Amino acid sequence: MSKGFLIFMFTLTMLLFFKETIILARSGCLPEKEKDALREIAESLGKKHLNPCHEQERPESPDMPSYNDSIICSSPSADGVCHVESISLKGQDLAGVLPPSLANLTYLKSIDLTRNYLSGTIPKEWEETKLEYMSLMANRLSGPIPKYLGNISTLVYMNLESNRFNGTVPAELGKLVNLKTL
Ligand SMILES: *[C@@H]1O[C@H](CO)[C@@H](O)[C@H](O)[C@H]1NC(C)=O
Ligand SMILES: *[C@@H]1O[C@H](CO)[C@@H](O)[C@H](O)[C@H]1NC(C)=O
Ligand SMILES: *[C@@H]1O[C@H](CO)[C@@H](O)[C@H](O)[C@H]1NC(C)=O
Ligand SMILES: *[C@@H]1O[C@H](CO)[C@@H](O)[C@H](O)[C@H]1NC(C)=O
Repeated sequence: MSKGFLIFMFTLTMLLFFKETIILARSGCLPEKEKDALREIAESLGKKHLNPCHEQERPESPDMPSYNDSIICSSPSADGVCHVESISLKGQDLAGVLPPSLANLTYLKSIDLTRNYLSGTIPKEWEETKLEYMSLMANRLSGPIPKYLGNISTLVYMNLESNRFNGTVPAELGKLVNLKTL
C-alpha cells in the first residue's frame, strides 16, 4: 500500500468519525422527552437511522427531485436547550404507520412524509400538535379522513393527495381558519 493511500484512508476515517460526533453533539441539546419521541417515531415509521438536528447536505437534484432526509432543530437557547422544529422524510420507502408520539414533539411545525408506503390512518394524538405544514402525499393511508384534523388549528398547508382515503370530506376541516392550501 502506498503512503498516499494510507494518509487518504486515515483522513477519511477521521472525517467519518467527526461527522458522527458532530451529529451527536448537535442533538445533545434536545430534551430527553424529544429524543425518546424520535426513537418511537423512527420505530413506527420503519426508519433505521434518524439523524436528529441534521439537514440533508445533498441539494434537491433533477435525478432525485422528491428525496429529503432532514430533521431540523432550533438553535440552542442560552441554557443549551433546542427543539425539533421540522421533519422531512421524503421518498424513503418507509412502510410503517404514522406515530402517535409525534405529538410529544411540542415544538414541531412541519412534517413532510411525501412518497412513502405508510398505511393506516392519522393518529388522534396529532390534533394536539402545533403543526403548520403537513404533507402526507403519496402514501397508503386509508379509511375516512379524520374529523379531528379540524382541531389542528395552526395548519396553513395540508396535503393528503394520492392516498386511499374514502368517504366524504369532513365539515370539521372548515374550522381550519389559517389553512391556505388543501
Ligand atoms: C408521549 O406522551 C404521552 C402522553 O403524555 C406519554 O404517555 C408517552 O410516554 C410519551 N412518549 C414519549 C416517547 O415520550
Ligand atoms: C429538506 O427539508 C427541510 C425541512 O423541511 C427543508 O428545510 C429543506 O429545504 C429541504 N431540502 C431540500 C433539498 O429540499
Ligand atoms: C376537537 O377538540 C375539541 C376540544 O378539545 C373536542 O371537544 C372535540 O371532540 C375535538 N374534535 C374531534 C372531531 O375530535
Ligand atoms: C371505505 O373502505 C373500507 C375498506 O375497503 C370499506 O369497508 C368502507 O365501506 C369504505 N367506506 C366508504 C364510505 O366508501
